[in-house]
Amino acid sequence: MPIQTTSKIWYNGNLIPWKDATIHVMSHVVHYGSSVFEGIRCYSQPHGAAVFRLPEHMQRLLDSAKIYRMELPFNLEELCAAVVDVIEANGVAPCYIRPIALRGYGEIGVSPKGSPIEIYIANFPWGKYIPGNNGADVCISSWNRLAPNTMPALAKAGANYMNSQLIHMEAEINGYQEGIGLDVNGLVSEGSGENIFVVRNGVLYTPPLANSALSGITRDSVLTIARHLGLPVTEQALPRELLYIADEVFFTGTAAEVSPIRSIDRILVGDGKPGEITRRIADEFFGIANGLKPDRFGWLTPVRVTANEPVTV
Ligand SMILES: Cc1ncc(COP(=O)(O)O)c(C=O)c1O
Repeated sequence: MPIQTTSKIWYNGNLIPWKDATIHVMSHVVHYGSSVFEGIRCYSQPHGAAVFRLPEHMQRLLDSAKIYRMELPFNLEELCAAVVDVIEANGVAPCYIRPIALRGYGEIGVSPKGSPIEIYIANFPWGKYIPGNNGADVCISSWNRLAPNTMPALAKAGANYMNSQLIHMEAEINGYQEGIGLDVNGLVSEGSGENIFVVRNGVLYTPPLANSALSGITRDSVLTIARHLGLPVTEQALPRELLYIADEVFFTGTAAEVSPIRSIDRILVGDGKPGEITRRIADEFFGIANGLKPDRFGWLTPVRVTANEPVTV
């Protein structure tokens, strides 16, 4: 889907016109993938709109930058305020928010020291990421996720998404909506842009971060919601074949939200319909995000924008 442009982009502390938010082809990031970024959603509320888990996302941006020795010239509070500013300036909500910190135009060598750090924050409308309400048909990828001590999986870095592209393209070419990556030891890791959850015999499982998974904010939200609902939850390494005999499987992510999986490698998950536990978790997640249930965990940051329609229900 083409990006729907808005009016302004936040750039290093100022709001600039969307069309002026450009970089030079010789920028360090273009050649060496040196960027860290976030994906955040702003949801409509009964009276206005609110950003979902804004401080957690911006803290992860700071953490990703720290791993790559990028010193960002803005602190957590300033970065959160910048997100609110750009949404309110554009008057666009619900929306998806894309903050990115990159190494800009300076020197051509691999060393990033002589290339300035630039931060941009854009927001724009973006609907459902995983198509279909009854669950996605997905495959196990022939590509593994990032091996430990190669590309750090806890950093949400642009370069990591070359691996995601391989997984996603292979899945699409073969007629699936998404691919699941195993880690370097053949254990379940995550989707190309989503964490994964499995339900079997009433217990909710998700792989631990050490299986090369991103520390998803939605993953954390689902773990919190599940504990609140009194569901047994365990973070443990999962063999591939557990996916084939699971009662329910679903993806989580800011883009994917809570998305049921209907089949894996053409094997139906359960009876091929979204399961009861997936539904209970999704109801609570969307209820909180859209302001229809109490914000009991303090996840919403209000913005002064009138929003008409929810992103999704
Ligand atoms: C590789 C990968 N895993 C997991 C996630 C889910 O993370 P979050 O819930 O913070 O969006 C994403 C999306 O950002 C991702 O790109």
